[in-house]
Amino acid sequence: MGVVIPLEEITPENRIEALSALVTEDMDRVNQTILSRAASHVTMIPDIANHLISSGGKRLRPMLTLATAGLCAYRGGGHIKLAAAVEFMHTATLLHDDVVDESDMRRGKLAARMLWGNEASVLVGDFLLGQAFKMMVEVGSLSCLDVLSSAAVVIAEGEVLQLSAANDMQTSEDDYLAVIRAKTAALFGAACEVGPILGQRPKAEIAACRGYGVNLGIAFQLIDDALDYGGTSAKLGKNIGDDFREGKITLPVVLSFRRGSEKEREFWRRTLERGEMADGDLEAAIATMHAHRALEDTVERARHYGAMARDALELFPASEWKAALIDVVDFCIDRVH
Ligand code: IPE
Ligand code: IPE
Ligand code: MG
Ligand code: MG
Repeated sequence: MGVVIPLEEITPENRIEALSALVTEDMDRVNQTILSRAASHVTMIPDIANHLISSGGKRLRPMLTLATAGLCAYRGGGHIKLAAAVEFMHTATLLHDDVVDESDMRRGKLAARMLWGNEASVLVGDFLLGQAFKMMVEVGSLSCLDVLSSAAVVIAEGEVLQLSAANDMQTSEDDYLAVIRAKTAALFGAACEVGPILGQRPKAEIAACRGYGVNLGIAFQLIDDALDYGGTSAKLGKNIGDDFREGKITLPVVLSFRRGSEKEREFWRRTLERGEMADGDLEAAIATMHAHRALEDTVERARHYGAMARDALELFPASEWKAALIDVVDFCIDRVH
């Protein structure tokens, strides 16, 4: 019999426990693969890669690859390397992203760029991306290679699109959604699509898993963007306010700007468009967001995409895999880290 968790003790952590338990053995193999593939005779590479890898991270994306392979009753071993490849793609984007965003903290530690510099961070990100593609080739599924390489292209497009929208208060909610679909949801979608492809499932099931991943990814990034103003650095393991300092136009900003008075709009133009920041501006930004329910409504939008993710799985019969994947939706929305 399963352990019954009293309602008041349901935290985001135990919402992902079912999934973690189902993938424990596979995840051990993924972690071994990650460690061995981060090795290089150029010692700075494993130094930097392991700094980030050993600080943990949720390993959410590789877990999704393993779980969707489980959902589709895949029996081979290719999902291990693909899950490791997915995490390497993610790790590479984090190394690159912290350079672009000038972030100081990552996974509760100093970002790699603070210790080894921007150049080394970018180059080690490239190494990990290269290793990810080697592993995909080893698995030998041209369709999986297609899905993951397309995701790599789209992620880069999303990051560049975000760069071009930075400091631009004309950015609309649709523009913002296009950015997060590309920079975050594309990898979640790909991570969930390769499992059923390996399992040679019908097209509808492959599309359903992808739909689950894409919508979960959108919800995940919406929450990340709400937490950048409404979370705490200690729990997140990265500094809050990074998006504000960088002039990133995320949904909490778009909503506050739209709903604000002319005086408030001038505040956003001064800080985010012209980059004229003063002490207390971040606190003022957060207060304005609360006044316009911008963070609450960002979370509301995330719930909507979460519901779409859940519904995408409806065509699968009940199973422990399906139940665990559905729990992940709440984990992503209620998370504080
Ligand atoms: C961080 O992703 C980057 C975003 C898409 C917001 P995660 O929050 O999944 O990072 P780790 O792997 O757990 O550190
Ligand atoms: C996530 O964006 C980066 C990618 C998906 C490539 P963020 O810039 O919001 O992520 P954090 O907040 O630094 O983790
Ligand atoms: Mg960032
Ligand atoms: Mg962020």
